[in-house]
Amino acid sequence: MKLLIALALLAYIASVWGNLVTVRSLQEEKEQGIEGKIEEAIAPLKEKIREIETSISQKYPPVKFLSEKDRKRILITGGAGFVGSHLADKLMMDGHEVTVVDNFFTGRKRNVEHWIGHENFELINHDVVEPLYIEVDQIYHLASPASPPNYMYNPIKTLKTNTIGTLNMLGLAKRVGARLLLASTSEVYGDPEVHPQREDYWGHVNPIGPRACYDEGKRVAETMCYAYMKQEGVEVRVARIFNTFGPRMHMNDGRVVSNFILQALQGEGLTVSIICYIFYIYIYMCTYFKGNPEEHTILEFAKLIRGLVGSRSEILSLPEAQDDPQRRNPDISKAKLLLGWEPVVPLEEGLNKTIDYFRKELEYQANNQYIPKPKPARTKKGRLRHI
Ligand SMILES: *[C@@H]1O[C@H](CO)[C@@H](O)[C@H](O)[C@H]1NC(C)=O
Repeated sequence: MKLLIALALLAYIASVWGNLVTVRSLQEEKEQGIEGKIEEAIAPLKEKIREIETSISQKYPPVKFLSEKDRKRILITGGAGFVGSHLADKLMMDGHEVTVVDNFFTGRKRNVEHWIGHENFELINHDVVEPLYIEVDQIYHLASPASPPNYMYNPIKTLKTNTIGTLNMLGLAKRVGARLLLASTSEVYGDPEVHPQREDYWGHVNPIGPRACYDEGKRVAETMCYAYMKQEGVEVRVARIFNTFGPRMHMNDGRVVSNFILQALQGEGLTVSIICYIFYIYIYMCTYFKGNPEEHTILEFAKLIRGLVGSRSEILSLPEAQDDPQRRNPDISKAKLLLGWEPVVPLEEGLNKTIDYFRKELEYQANNQYIPKPKPARTKKGRLRHI
């Protein structure tokens, strides 16, 4: 009996021992398995961290380093707009400290969002109609709605921006000894009687027409610049920018390039002013004022854009708007001689980039109720007719 008990006990101990042994090896296996699994689970996380680290270090476009003495503090009014944001890119990449001031009437944060948080960049929500007190070395004064539907939307505001706003910026330039560049416009020539337009042509503007708030606003802004230069010795520059297009332009800009592209992309008829021999000049915006002065008839242009978009939209004609300039073309010989400024981007390449941008914008807005219908700046009513 005792023997039996002893044997049972032994067997029991052996089994327990055996169990213990298997339990331990199981445990070890488990641990190893867990380690492997943890390793497995961690690997994608490690990968993710690596990705995030690289994306953080590449967060901003590359910026040159400038020493304290070469680095300028630059104010761009209207710097979140189409032209202003390209200028901000160029100056940031050159290594300067850029302060963008915009009231976001037509400017958009998206145009400069890639710089937000950069140590050289500052964005201020401010209307230039109110004075601004900051320390700067240079001022690029671009603030003003620039497309007909935008500036006609609130003519008094357009006038205030161009007059009081420009006085405020010239006052700032005088106080801090900064140089100021005024972004003026080919609209100062009105409906020109001279072709091409040279810098010394005085223009042909209707002072009480629908476009006068912008045309005369910019004309008096130029006058103010030269008065501050003569009387106060402020260094000023005036750039008369002609029709411009490129990525970041407003889809509802209301002028031919954006209208044609939008109409072609959305499969609508391309609306052309009745005067088909109208000539236009385009300056394509890309990082800096690279432009391409070429004359094209509106009809040629509509056909070109329709071809590039690959659309089968019809081309329709519209009555002419009041005071719409019939023809504009800058004489750039002086700019070439004195500034070395020359066209760089071929028309078709500029159009393709703009079309790509518009395509992306339309996709971006696809889930949004807001898709702008192209509205040409036409003031007279009239029926569309095929041409
Ligand atoms: C512009 O786009 C069209 C159509 O996609 C293409 O055929 C043409 O080669 C492009 N032109 C330039 C200059 O990129």
